[in-house]
Amino acid sequence: MTSRIIGTGSYVPARVVTNDELAQIVDTSDEWISGRTGIHKRRIAVEESTGYMAAEAARRALENAGITAEELELILVGTTTGEHCFPSVACEVQGEIGAVNAVAYDISAACSGFLFAMDTLQAFIRAGVYKTGLVIGADCLSKLIDWEDRGTCVLFGDGAGAAVMRAEDFGLIHTVMGSDGERGNVLSCVARTNGSFVDKRTPQLGYVYMDGQEVFKFAVKKVPECIRQVLDESGTDIEQIKYFVLHQANYRIVEAVAKRLKQPMDKFPMNMERYGNTSAATVPILLDEMNREGKLEPGDRIVLSGFGAGLTWGAALLEW
Ligand code: COA
Repeated sequence: MTSRIIGTGSYVPARVVTNDELAQIVDTSDEWISGRTGIHKRRIAVEESTGYMAAEAARRALENAGITAEELELILVGTTTGEHCFPSVACEVQGEIGAVNAVAYDISAACSGFLFAMDTLQAFIRAGVYKTGLVIGADCLSKLIDWEDRGTCVLFGDGAGAAVMRAEDFGLIHTVMGSDGERGNVLSCVARTNGSFVDKRTPQLGYVYMDGQEVFKFAVKKVPECIRQVLDESGTDIEQIKYFVLHQANYRIVEAVAKRLKQPMDKFPMNMERYGNTSAATVPILLDEMNREGKLEPGDRIVLSGFGAGLTWGAALLEW
């Protein structure tokens, strides 16, 4: 018994922010941003919270799967940008969509959040604990960004993607996940926890900090490594893979991964030019677009892979 994706959904805010618009607030240019990252524009939340976007993506995924919210037994949201420390985004989603029979909680793995959530649901389904669940990747990094830091503010966008998973005989074939807490300092954001009773210090929020080159080096090494691992451990020939659905952070990272895996670029769909890096949402948004465009057919083998703060990374091999 394994789990299969039976429906997908996604949501992005309506507000489009182009590179030219960013060039009006920081010293940058469309040429620099698109040349170094492949990003041309992104969607930025105005009224939407992470929970709102996650619930919208969830509704669309349920509709696509043809099931009701009451059938869900578990809701996992990979996110690091909930409006509240508590309750969780997953509980907000549960309340919004009326998934009265579900257990709901968040998983914190930054941009790898969707993959980590999927792996967790898979473990519950394999163990026979649950049969039907919902995994969501949702983030609103625009609220954590220093809009005066050109090194980070040009990279991110907001959005949410979701997948309904159900116990079936085929679907997810194998997953691998990894973490390296010793290198957490290369990509971080201080939370509201540094208050102190002794020093009478009020908690303060921090901004996203990133050592871009270190993250780049980490990604181009770890992503191909974990993809090879997921293929080797499942005895799968890489030529059998139709698509590699990777975290959409930078087209140069995707190109480097393709080169290291010796695979053609047409196996690596991309949408970061329209949405930027939506953190935990990139993989499920891209998957949803591919699903709705009819690019995925029964029997197709695809690999999903992500990386992010933690550091964290992972890959999942599945049959559609
Ligand atoms: N516009 C114009 N110039 C910029 C800029 C911007 N938005 N951001 C940085 N620069 C400048 C730097 O100040 C630097 O100038 P200097 O040479 O005068 O010092 C120059 O551009 C080169 O900066 P560098 O950091 O070396 O660029 P890079 O080629 O490494 O590209 C990133 C920067 C962030 C695009 C790249 O490192 C990257 O994509 N890293 C991975 C990030 C990532 O994936 N994050 C998400 C993880 S989930």
